[in-house]
Amino acid sequence: MKSKTKNEEEHIGFRPNILCFCCSWCSYAGADLAGVSRFQYPPSIRIVRVMCSGRVDPAFILEAFKDGIDGILVTGCHIGDCHYLKGNEYAKERIERYQDVLKMLGLEKRFKLEWVSASEGKRFSELITEFTAQIKKLGPLIQ
Ligand code: FES
Repeated sequence: MKSKTKNEEEHIGFRPNILCFCCSWCSYAGADLAGVSRFQYPPSIRIVRVMCSGRVDPAFILEAFKDGIDGILVTGCHIGDCHYLKGNEYAKERIERYQDVLKMLGLEKRFKLEWVSASEGKRFSELITEFTAQIKKLGPLIQ
């Protein structure tokens, strides 16, 4: 059996608040499929449905962290599958430019951009499970 590190033990009982932006066409449908297929994932996320990942303004991310959200996921259609053609490419570009700001604030491990299609319910549940574990290790953003 794998023993827990000191850091993991310190955060026992911590239930992170994670915000997950899902585009309406792919990742939201993937989340829905995860539910319909009964794939288990931690109840730590709150989904914010947006029409496209390109709609997620970096200001939303900072505002959410400022309000005490412990981790943020932005999800959308795979590159090439965006229903608005290039919305996810804009999101990727914008968020890559924003990485420096997140690093400067020490928040880069609390943020992730991922692509999930409507048929990837299993992948959605795995993504939430892995990201929740990562945030649990980091502990609460605001102590
Ligand atoms: S519609 Fe899904 S990322 Fe644009």
